[in-house]
Amino acid sequence: MLVTLNEILKEASYNGYAIAGFNVFGYEDAIMVVEAAEELNTPVILMTNRDAVMHIPIKILGNILTEIAKSASVPVCVHLDHGKSVEEIVDAIKAGFSSVMYDGSQLPLEENIRNTKELADIAHYFDVSIEGEIGSVGYSDPSIKAKSIYTIPEEAKVFVEKTGIDAVAVAIGTLHRMQAQKADIQYERLREIEKLVSIPLVIHGSTGVKDEDLIKLSKYRVGKVNIGTALRMAFGNTMREEFRDNPKEFDRLKMFKKPMIEVKRVAKEKMIILGAEQRENLRRVENC
Ligand code: G3H
Ligand code: ZN
Repeated sequence: MLVTLNEILKEASYNGYAIAGFNVFGYEDAIMVVEAAEELNTPVILMTNRDAVMHIPIKILGNILTEIAKSASVPVCVHLDHGKSVEEIVDAIKAGFSSVMYDGSQLPLEENIRNTKELADIAHYFDVSIEGEIGSVGYSDPSIKAKSIYTIPEEAKVFVEKTGIDAVAVAIGTLHRMQAQKADIQYERLREIEKLVSIPLVIHGSTGVKDEDLIKLSKYRVGKVNIGTALRMAFGNTMREEFRDNPKEFDRLKMFKKPMIEVKRVAKEKMIILGAEQRENLRRVENC
């Protein structure tokens, strides 16, 4: 079923587990992520970033992802990741996305607050949830021009209060697009943010987070953990092996099989680390 962030994050952030948000780029990875979530009986978030919507028009991608979500046996949120303009957000809402992110992290604080509030009002009018970002999670690739700025807890409080957003991305030591798990998480900063902000927190750049830190983060008020590069690597690296092992094969549907299975394996592994099985055990006990 298609859900908003509000329907899945609050419960997660207060109950010691986190929901995985995976960047997906089409049918092949989206369906495997949802299959993995169904096998664990856990909610999941399908996220599209700018690269994805430059490859497939958002209207088409929105249809594919929302249809997958509606047919799923678990709650699935279809979320626009790192939207940077009113147009992108409005296009996502029109395309049926149940959730959007407005990323004003590169702007001065007042401008970020003003734009985020305006977009939160628009999103909420259409019953769509919205995530904002305060501080800035930068990129490990220096060719991508984006500032890295740790979140100041007091600013996070003001940002959340003034914008009315549903979830807030915070910068506590992660970087986007890391291929190795080397992020140095600032737990003290996270603790301070938690004291001042009551909505679910979002961690971006989580491919670079060590497994033990993912487990630890999910015990904080973190509701959503964004993972992109790990699935791109799973698909792409397996595809490379397929080309190497089958130099004469030309049928892409055959070549997609193993990469898709690998995407499912990695997605499942990440969801288990983030507490999917504990969530299921908790639900079973509650239903006894
Ligand atoms: O918004 C997307 C995520 O922050 C993904 O980051 O590709 O470093 O895992 P990642
Ligand atoms: Zn991100």
